[in-house]
Amino acid sequence: MSIHILPSYVIKQIAAGQIVERPASVVKELIENSLDAGATRICIDIELGGIKCIRVLDNACGISKSDLKLVLTSYATSKITSLDDLTTINTLGFRGEALASISSVSRITVTSRTAKQNNGWQLYAEKGDVEIINLKPAAHPCGTTVEVIDLFYNTPARKKFLRTARTEFTVIDEIVRQISLAYFKVGISLTHNGQIKRQYHINNKNLTSEKRLSNILGYNFINHAIPINNHKNNIYLNGWFINPNFAYKTSSVQYFYVNHRIVYNRLINNAIRQVVQTIFGVNQPFAYILFLKIDLDQIDINVCPSKKEIRFYQSRLVHDFIYESLITAIYSKNIEKSYFASTKSLINHDNIKEINTYRQYGNHEYAKCHNFLDYEDNKNIPIIPTEISTDLSQSLPTIYKSKFGNILKIISFSFALIEKSNNLMLLSLPVANVILIQQHLQSIKDKLKSQPLLIPSRITLNPLKLQIIKKHFELLLKIGITCNFESNTLIILSVPMILKTKKIQVLIAALLNYFCENDNKILSINNLIQFIVEYLKNDTPSEWKEQQALLLLIELEKYCPNVIESPPASLLQIINIEKILKKLQNENF
Ligand SMILES: Nc1ncnc2c1ncn2[C@@H]1O[C@H](COP(=O)(O)OP(=O)(O)OP(=O)(O)O)[C@@H](O)[C@H]1O
Ligand SMILES: [Mg+2]
Repeated sequence: MSIHILPSYVIKQIAAGQIVERPASVVKELIENSLDAGATRICIDIELGGIKCIRVLDNACGISKSDLKLVLTSYATSKITSLDDLTTINTLGFRGEALASISSVSRITVTSRTAKQNNGWQLYAEKGDVEIINLKPAAHPCGTTVEVIDLFYNTPARKKFLRTARTEFTVIDEIVRQISLAYFKVGISLTHNGQIKRQYHINNKNLTSEKRLSNILGYNFINHAIPINNHKNNIYLNGWFINPNFAYKTSSVQYFYVNHRIVYNRLINNAIRQVVQTIFGVNQPFAYILFLKIDLDQIDINVCPSKKEIRFYQSRLVHDFIYESLITAIYSKNIEKSYFASTKSLINHDNIKEINTYRQYGNHEYAKCHNFLDYEDNKNIPIIPTEISTDLSQSLPTIYKSKFGNILKIISFSFALIEKSNNLMLLSLPVANVILIQQHLQSIKDKLKSQPLLIPSRITLNPLKLQIIKKHFELLLKIGITCNFESNTLIILSVPMILKTKKIQVLIAALLNYFCENDNKILSINNLIQFIVEYLKNDTPSEWKEQQALLLLIELEKYCPNVIESPPASLLQIINIEKILKKLQNENF
């Protein structure tokens, strides 16, 4: 066959394959367009799992008649004008290809009116913009309706992969849920075959974000949620993390949003998984809804056409920030012991879906049931309490019972006053730290694997220093530090677990000093372990906080269980209350 240029609708159909995977992808793109246009109400009507019809109606700014002619053209967008705009993009769409792609694999009608126009305009097309069949005036409130009929009617190969209408609707429902969780200030309703399935109200003054969350996921979810709220420089993380004893019921809820966009990113998953493993152990179920807010120039969202993937310019920083925020929040809930005890009736208010009042498009009642007129009209939707749990002790995660006892206070900057079975004890935190360090280093000796750095650390060194590092290359390898060399740059690839959170540049500088001071000696692995112990000892806090102490004790429990059985005297001293009491009682004034 000779080379020829494909017809433009075939090019579009091929491109559409990446964006329009199934009906839920269409729903996602249409809702995102409505949100970008500033909608506060969006209603979504689905027929036959979206295979027959998807209709999305919004009350946003609308599309003018002249723009309407362009909406189905590939790479036509109002959201960016140049590549540079991508670094400041704060809309969900920007590629100008969603509607073009959808229109190439369906029959599409776009009806819209702007506030400036007296009437709306309607566009009908098949096979994308190639066959715009009609552009005519139409009655429409301010906003836009996009109707997608017979999805994949002209691409049977793709149609074959669709599941049953019921399954396709479940995927749509999930997409709508994910988006609704990130846009509390937008009212969203969803119908299937004429029945209202979801109605997420606008979060007005009387409704807190927790209320909306309960509305979407049920009160059980919020009752077991640990709130997350942290920020560092210009990065903010908030949301909820669910304790594992409840998470098995909600494991499908693992949502991470970056600047209000739900994303998938291995680095984020990795950070969350590490937290769960550190605190609760491997293979524990967990659930979360987390929102990361970060400067737009710190991310790249233009990774794939579906815009679900994201890259961070400072991925290490983001990873560690997420890790630290979750660890701290979960541990501080342990300190605030009353938190779980206060978990009372677990009422599920999630059952608002069966309201069988479907009304036809254009009908006043229809708009009313989709919340287009007034939220107040609809607030009496039945709320059905379905589940009351009484055994609260079952929802306490095991982690909240420290085997050492409860830390009551930090005394003299570095001693933890601990209470256990009516005994009071003093525990030396610096000693506990050294025991832990030694245990970790023992593990290195036993060839436990070192931790690869997410971003290799590059350090420029003069030739003499590079030579020193090269000389000790094998030794460094034995304690888990792996590195590479590139002209005058040292590239650190991995470090032992225990040094993961330390500043690599400072560590290398200290190592270089150590090597220089011992230039005339043949150093062994034990010398290096000793060096690291000293290094870490000097790096411990001079003034401990309760949270740090708790984290340390939990690590100690995990890695040095024998220390709990028989703690050395330098670590733990029981306060002899009886002796003190006796002394007090016998004391004469
Ligand atoms: N509901 C809507 N309200 C107002 N304008 C809309 C709506 N839907 C689409 N548009 C307009 O149509 C344009 C094309 O939409 P389309 O979804 O194809 O591209 P995009 O949103 O710009 O980028 P992407 O392909 O990444 O979604 C948008 O840029 C916007 O100007
Ligand atoms: Mg779009």
